Amino acid sequence: MKGKIAVVTGAGTGIGQAIALELAANRYTVYANARSEDKIKETIEKGKEMNYEIRPLIFDVSIEEEVKNKILSLPYIDCIINNAAVGVDKEFRELTESDWDKVFNTNVKGCYYCVKYALEKMTTGSSIINISSGAAKTGGDFVSLPYSASKGAINSMTIFFARKLAPKGIRVNAVSPGFVDTRMLILNDKITKDYYKTIIPIGKLGIPQDIAYCVSFLVSEKASYITGQIIEVNGGDIMG
Ligand SMILES: NC(=O)c1ccc[n+]([C@@H]2O[C@H](COP(=O)([O-])OP(=O)(O)OC[C@H]3O[C@@H](n4cnc5c(N)ncnc54)[C@H](OP(=O)(O)O)[C@@H]3O)[C@@H](O)[C@H]2O)c1
Repeated sequence: MKGKIAVVTGAGTGIGQAIALELAANRYTVYANARSEDKIKETIEKGKEMNYEIRPLIFDVSIEEEVKNKILSLPYIDCIINNAAVGVDKEFRELTESDWDKVFNTNVKGCYYCVKYALEKMTTGSSIINISSGAAKTGGDFVSLPYSASKGAINSMTIFFARKLAPKGIRVNAVSPGFVDTRMLILNDKITKDYYKTIIPIGKLGIPQDIAYCVSFLVSEKASYITGQIIEVNGGDIMG
């Protein structure tokens, strides 16, 4: 029997790293993406310590030619997790065209390129997970406008592809984290980890593993009737 292959973008840190390790623990051969060998070292090392199959896949998601070459070099793909993303930390009046381009090129077009080429390697039973953000629904109280707008686009793209691909037996869902303790979490004098605890109903920040568990369920057979959903994993920060 063929082993399963997963691709995780932005897998060198935070949530992407946790997803790569969790899928590897579930016996996937994981192609862990980052922009350089150096940036994926830690994930590969952690995988080795656990005897997991994690291999580097080096490309920049915002450069279509790189995505195409690397994704099409794989024999087949059972699931792809579009996790790579960036933000800009600016008030909306200060934003420049290059701020918008940076965020949309990575978060939106990067996801599109990955889906476009991964589909050439997918068959019935494959699945796609896009990592969104609660900021898509709230508008983004703590993050910048291009970031929250890019995650709104991710939600639309998730539903678009879910509809298009359902007849082919390929499922597409988004996992939408709330506030998770990674380097992307906005922290300053006023917005501290203790402050987050006061605004999250469950009373604590999320950890990358919380998101990884949800992803590993959604790509599994157990979720074979779930597609086109934006699943919030957020300690109750956004309900309903
Ligand atoms: N942490 C939260 O509270 C939170 C909340 C909601 C949603 N999310 C989402 O969760 C996902 C993971 O974020 P995180 O919190 O784990 O932060 P993170 O550690 O900054 O993860 C983002 C990853 O994306 C990579 N990346 C950025 N641009 C890339 C590109 N062009 N090509 C390939 N990789 C690229 C980064 O690598 P480099 O080292 O090269 O920059 C980094 O490894 C993101 O989609 C984020 O929007 C996070």
